[in-house]
Amino acid sequence: MTSALQLENLTIAFGRGRNRVVAVQGVDLRVEPGEVVGLVGESGSGKSTIARAVVGLVQPAAGRVLVAGHNIRNSRRGRISRSELASLAQMVFQDPYSSLDPRMSVARTIDEALRYGRRGLSRAERQREVMRLLETVTLDGAYADRMPSQLSGGQRQRVAIARSLAVRPKLLIADEVTAALDVSVQAQILNLLRTIQRAEGLSMLFISHNLSMVRYLSDRIAVMYMGEIVEVGPSEELVRSPTHPYTKVLLAAVPKLAGDEVDEMWLPVGETADPRHPPQGCRFHPRCPVGPGIRSGRELCQTLDPREDASLRPHSAACHFPLKSDEPAPARAATHFDRADLSRRKS
Ligand SMILES: Nc1ncnc2c1ncn2[C@@H]1O[C@H](COP(=O)(O)OP(=O)(O)OP(=O)(O)O)[C@@H](O)[C@H]1O
Ligand code: SF4
Ligand SMILES: [Mg+2]
Repeated sequence: MTSALQLENLTIAFGRGRNRVVAVQGVDLRVEPGEVVGLVGESGSGKSTIARAVVGLVQPAAGRVLVAGHNIRNSRRGRISRSELASLAQMVFQDPYSSLDPRMSVARTIDEALRYGRRGLSRAERQREVMRLLETVTLDGAYADRMPSQLSGGQRQRVAIARSLAVRPKLLIADEVTAALDVSVQAQILNLLRTIQRAEGLSMLFISHNLSMVRYLSDRIAVMYMGEIVEVGPSEELVRSPTHPYTKVLLAAVPKLAGDEVDEMWLPVGETADPRHPPQGCRFHPRCPVGPGIRSGRELCQTLDPREDASLRPHSAACHFPLKSDEPAPARAATHFDRADLSRRKS
C-alpha cells in the first residue's frame, strides 16, 4: 500500500557559510492512509520546516518527499502540477488572522479554492459545495457573506479548515492550528479535526509542541529534537514507556501525563545548543539527564551518532542507552536554573 506521506532521509538547510542551519537532518517518516501522526518537539526543532517541505514551500537539500507516492520535487519540472500537489496535500497554518485574505468573504475564500482545485464544477455546484463545507466545519450558512474581520479566531480557523478540505486532499498538515486560539476554543477545533479526520478517512500530520494535544489526536507520535526524529511509536505506548530521554523530558514537563506533578528529576540539564553548531555524537548529550555529564560510562554519547542503529531499537530510539520501563530517575536534584528553563518552555 502506498503511504500517504513518506519522508526519506529528508534534509533541509537555510543560510550559507557560518550562518548555515540544518533545520531538518536525515528524517525518515511515514504517514499511512487514514493515519494521524503527531510531530512534537520544542521550538526550533524543525517541525514547521518539515510541514512546509511537504506542501512544496521549501526545497530539500537532500532526500525525498513522497505524497501518495509522488515525488513533490517533480512539481518544479512539471511532472506533477501545483494544483495536483494541492489536491494531494493541504496545510492549515497556525495563525488564522494572517492566513485568510482580509478582502475576501468566507464564501469567496472557499470558492477560490474550489475554482483552483476542482475545475470541472459549475457555479451552482460550487455554491452548494461552499455550503456543504461550512456545515462540515460547523459554521452556519449565514457566515458565507461575512468578512474575516467579522469572525472570531476559532471561526477563522474553521474557514481555513473548510478551504483546505475544498480540494478533497488525501493528506492534511495541521501546524500548531490551535496555538493562536483561546484555550476554550482549542478543544473545539481539536474535536472538529478529529471528527473530520474520522469521517473522511483523512491522513494527517498533526504538529504541536503540546504533547497532550498530540496524544489526543494521533495514532503514532514522532518526537523531534534539533532537526532529527529521536523516537517514534504508537501514541499510548510512547507516552506510557518512552525510550528516548528527550521524550521522557517532554513527558515529565506535562503534569497530567506524568502523574500529579512535574517530575523534576527528568528536567534537561542546560540550554539548547546553537543550531548552527549542533553537538557531535548525540545532539541531546549536553542536556541529557542520563547522559555522559550525569552517568559514568556514557562517553560514547559525545562521539557516536546514535541514529545509525536507531532502527534496531524499540521506537527507533536515537539513543545508545534506550530507557527501560524500570529506569531509575537521574540521581540529581533540579537546580533553580532548570526550574526557570522549564517555566519558559511551558509558557
Ligand atoms: N526561512 C528560514 N531561514 C532561516 N532559518 C530558518 C528559516 N525557517 C526556519 N529556520 C530555522 O530552522 C530551525 C527550525 O525552525 P522551525 O520553524 O521548523 O521549528 P519549529 O519546530 O516549527 O518551531 P516552533 O515550535 O517555534 O514553531 C530553527 O533554527 C529556525 O530558526
Ligand atoms: S545517546 Fe546518550 S546522551 Fe543521547 S539521549 Fe541517549 S543517553 Fe542521552
Ligand atoms: Mg513551527
